[in-house]
Amino acid sequence: MRDDVGLLELVGTRRSAGRLLDTAPDDAEVERLVGLAMTAPDHAYLRPWRLVLIRDGARGDLGDALAQASGNPAQALKPLRAPLLIAIVLCPQQHPKVPEWEQLAAAVGVVTTLGLLMHAAGWATNWRTGPHLDARPVREVLRLADGERALGFLYTGRPDAEDGRGPRPQPDPAAHLSTLGRDDRIVNGSPGVVR
Ligand SMILES: Cc1cc2nc3c(=O)[nH]c(=O)nc-3n(C[C@H](O)[C@H](O)[C@H](O)COP(=O)(O)O)c2cc1C
Repeated sequence: MRDDVGLLELVGTRRSAGRLLDTAPDDAEVERLVGLAMTAPDHAYLRPWRLVLIRDGARGDLGDALAQASGNPAQALKPLRAPLLIAIVLCPQQHPKVPEWEQLAAAVGVVTTLGLLMHAAGWATNWRTGPHLDARPVREVLRLADGERALGFLYTGRPDAEDGRGPRPQPDPAAHLSTLGRDDRIVNGSPGVVR
């Protein structure tokens, strides 16, 4: 862990990596970081997700599934872009108070937190999706049960200083913020004040 860097700076410097170099966290490190990521908010602690580590030759199996799903042999190379892919699987549960969208939100919280923790530990990540997540060959290779849904892969590896990505565009938080009862601005297309 980079103890010399504060949390605010870590959050501000995380980027989705364009290119990832070989070497990745081992299973013990992944487990430790996932344990920390599980502090993300989770209504009723349903833990409605699972993660599948895909390393070495298993990346080829996933690539074959993507190629079969897309009919494009070039897709077979996609998982080879990182030494470790962490498949994110949503496992929705029936619950009287926690609808599926909240369970999706909890899963996203874990993935987002894990990405930040990986960055804090000196690794780089990129959450990648694509149009074939729900195709039968991909479902089969991930051994998805009925009702489960793949949310993508956290590509993980060593950061590349020559990544070629420029700085992130400056965010404009004010364009997404209003104070109820105090201003009349249009925020993200909606009135900031509900009357
Ligand atoms: C649900 C989700 C799906 C994403 N899918 C992809 C993807 O398929 N390919 C990709 O290169 N990046 C993907 N990204 C990463 C975004 O492109 C990335 O966060 C965005 O470019 C901003 O870059 P930054 O995270 O460095 O600020 C995805 C991010 C999320 C949250």
